[in-house]
Amino acid sequence: MERVVIVEKLKKNFRVREKDAGLLASFKSLVSSSYKNINALKSISFSLNKGEMVGFIGPNGAGKTTTLKILSGILYPTSGFVQVMGFTPWERKYDYLNQLGLIMGQKNQLWWDLPAIDSLELNRAIYNLSDKKYKKNLQELTEILDVADILRRPVRHLSLGQRMRLELVAGLLHSPQVVFLDEPTVGLDVVAQAKIREFIKEYNKNHEATVILTSHNMNDLLGIVDRVIIIDKGSIFFDGKLESLVKKYALNKIITATLINPVRREDLEKIGSVVEYEFPKVVLAVKRTVATLAASELLQNYPVSDLNIEEVPVEQIIVQIFQANAEK
Ligand SMILES: Nc1ncnc2c1ncn2[C@@H]1O[C@H](COP(=O)(O)OP(=O)(O)OP(=O)(O)O)[C@@H](O)[C@H]1O
Ligand SMILES: [Mg+2]
Repeated sequence: MERVVIVEKLKKNFRVREKDAGLLASFKSLVSSSYKNINALKSISFSLNKGEMVGFIGPNGAGKTTTLKILSGILYPTSGFVQVMGFTPWERKYDYLNQLGLIMGQKNQLWWDLPAIDSLELNRAIYNLSDKKYKKNLQELTEILDVADILRRPVRHLSLGQRMRLELVAGLLHSPQVVFLDEPTVGLDVVAQAKIREFIKEYNKNHEATVILTSHNMNDLLGIVDRVIIIDKGSIFFDGKLESLVKKYALNKIITATLINPVRREDLEKIGSVVEYEFPKVVLAVKRTVATLAASELLQNYPVSDLNIEEVPVEQIIVQIFQANAEK
């Protein structure tokens, strides 16, 4: 397998000026400043094979954007080794940038006062796209993302969702082989989120593109990525398949049953911890090792019309992990 993204022992420290609150402190800081070091990335390592798509998740300030900025050559690292498609990103070689797509949900690359088509024309020049390729890609992207009729309106008049779709057109017009997406669905409604999510998956498949996608929205990642990298406070906490995350960290399984007759809560508590209790529906959390046993105990003792054993939702597991880490 061809390793397209290689990150080894990557560190990034930011030196920031610190000043106490208040006017006096402001004067003092004019004379002497105190600096503080922020270790945004503490020696992280991972790699991606060609065509792989991973979800990069973590709480605010974890280091996701910093990582993507270094990988795209916007930021220099403090130390460590990074190679993407054989290039060192911060050398910013034309051939590298030409094969790279960076799309940031919080920051636009489209010119605010101009219609998107003007920004796209500009990108065509920057990336030196042939007429044929430009037309073909533009046609394809505008069609899938359904933006043909908004290409000629000034970007500032567009809604957030419309803008985000155009950002994707701009970021992918040169059909990059490696794509970094930083919260591409931030602020969008669920329908728009789903559309963008599907589109990214399609792009990844059709172009065999290597994709890193950050998101705070677990729904964005479920179903479109197999692998997640979880980062917290500048360190990688988990890197692997979503299923193994569930196996490793979900200590419980969830039994949902529809009762035929009411059962006292205390009696259900003997089987598992009661999460929801609203007759006829009850939800119990039970240790995953004894889930089947608990389910048969329920079935034997109380008539039920329906019963399901499920995994704890991934979102919940991740929230638990981050909460546990925050308390450390
Ligand atoms: N230019 C900068 N100067 C100083 N500190 C910075 C700078 N950029 C980021 N940081 C700090 O580095 C840490 C990581 O920030 P980063 O933006 O990478 O987090 P993130 O995981 O993308 O968070 P979010 O989910 O909020 O987008 C934070 O503590 C942040 O305050
Ligand atoms: Mg960020």
